[in-house]
Amino acid sequence: MNPRPEFAPPFDLLPPQLSLPQDDGDRSGRARKLERARDAYRYSYDKANIRGLAMCEQLPDEELPDAGWRVGLAGVAARLVANAVKVSGLPEPAQLAELVRAVEKDGLEGGLREVGGVVVAGEAGQTIARLGDYAGLFHEWRVPAEAGELHLDSTFARMRLAGPNPAWIRRVDPGAGLPSDFAVEAHHYAAAVGSADTMDAALAEGRLFLCEYRQLLDLPPGAVPVPAGITIDYATDPVGWNAAYKAREAAYGQGARAKALVAPLALFAAIGGRLTPIAIQLFPQGHRGRRYPVFTPRDGLAWIAAKAALHAADGTVHETVSHLGLTHLVQEAFYLALHNNLSVRHPLHRLLAPHFEGTLSINAGADKSLVSPAGYVDKLLLTTIGGAIELTGKAVQSYDFTASIFPRQLAARGVDDPAVLRDYPYRDDGQLVWRAIESFVTAYLQQYCRSDEDVAQDGELQAMVRQVGAYRTPDAAGRLCGGGIGGVGEGGAQVRTRGYLIQMVTQIIWNGSAQHAAVNFPQADPMAYSPHYPLALRGPAPEGTAVSEAEYLQMLPTTNRRTFSCSF
Ligand SMILES: [Fe+2]
Repeated sequence: MNPRPEFAPPFDLLPPQLSLPQDDGDRSGRARKLERARDAYRYSYDKANIRGLAMCEQLPDEELPDAGWRVGLAGVAARLVANAVKVSGLPEPAQLAELVRAVEKDGLEGGLREVGGVVVAGEAGQTIARLGDYAGLFHEWRVPAEAGELHLDSTFARMRLAGPNPAWIRRVDPGAGLPSDFAVEAHHYAAAVGSADTMDAALAEGRLFLCEYRQLLDLPPGAVPVPAGITIDYATDPVGWNAAYKAREAAYGQGARAKALVAPLALFAAIGGRLTPIAIQLFPQGHRGRRYPVFTPRDGLAWIAAKAALHAADGTVHETVSHLGLTHLVQEAFYLALHNNLSVRHPLHRLLAPHFEGTLSINAGADKSLVSPAGYVDKLLLTTIGGAIELTGKAVQSYDFTASIFPRQLAARGVDDPAVLRDYPYRDDGQLVWRAIESFVTAYLQQYCRSDEDVAQDGELQAMVRQVGAYRTPDAAGRLCGGGIGGVGEGGAQVRTRGYLIQMVTQIIWNGSAQHAAVNFPQADPMAYSPHYPLALRGPAPEGTAVSEAEYLQMLPTTNRRTFSCSF
């Protein structure tokens, strides 16, 4: 019997020797490979739907999802269809087979296309008659726990601290007080808390907290149903999310009912360390010359309806701003800058690249199908697809990277004191994760960057920092480059110290891991239960304290595709 030969991997499978560019003995070879990477990871600002933001022009093969990921996705898609069968009796087994084939062939895009067809077919004519009907939509998954705690104010408060959008709430500055267009008064506060605590005391002690959704003011409301056949001609409107969309959306009024738009303000107080809802106002006072009621927990169904309206606003900014914009697309900008500037021999390339796995492909799929006319975002959110893309675009363009570094954003929002807010899972669990990443990054970088000089003289790193902040700027070969991300660097678009580099790298990893997990995974529980987190309002939002059960139910989604929470 022949002895079994030893396995010898080909040389090019071995990882390259790591070095800072200034220490590399083969600078010309390093530069040649980097130039090839720049061709592979070209910037585009004119994708099909997410216009004006930096995305990869064409995915290199190594960025395409692998077979294992596609099989996993096919499994999830099959469960969605199996659930739809149990709800509505559709579809035929042949459609199920077609779904699996579509996922294998086109990945996320194909799966969403097929699932969308099945779900739309299954929802025809279904309306909600009573709240309990929503529980009947869950067969392949358990009914979310929020179904049993739907109307509790403690559930509503917890969503601000451990819900899908847990970095939105901020402390009211005791020096500035409440916004002048939020008409909460002492008697509202007293009605809400029912104790000797007063609004003046809570303000002075830094115990008042605010959630505002002013971004939604004046956006076009979406429609039910979304008209089919809308196409966007970007050739006539390079900006895309303004004139072209709005012109198309004029068609929404023909045969479709407009969704109700709100841009609410909500006040909370920390009482004994626990967050307590105080009041909701669905628009700033004076918006379009009108006065708006202040709802409190004493307002019965009107309060419940106001909380649902606030969750529609919160869900809309969650998906467009906090999730798609500030995690998925910010990460893509960094990943492009990484490939365009850091050699694969750079220690930071080795450290960071695995944290972007799947970023380009999932974003490309979102651009093609989720964030498209008549796609899921168009159907599910308060505003139209044009409004949604505008929200995303403005969020990314106004993002301040350094101000968003996790410990700084906690301090800037005034939520970092556990003596005031005792239980804040996003903060408390996040700090554990942050410190673990930071400690790993520190130990790793100390191996390669022994001083601030090493950092300051690292030409590849400095070029990456400059480029992630630039926008549509030609490189030496004339390619348009730049991530358009503001606030990266210390004292301008540069890194001078190892201390800042550690914070910067920790934040990049944090944003693609823990921060994304915080905003992504609650798309299942608690968002999948649509009366709890309606992303849009099908009927009018409450205008006074007299709200009937029928009016409340009319606001909520039909027993529709909201069962099928899709991550993007
Ligand atoms: Fe996501």
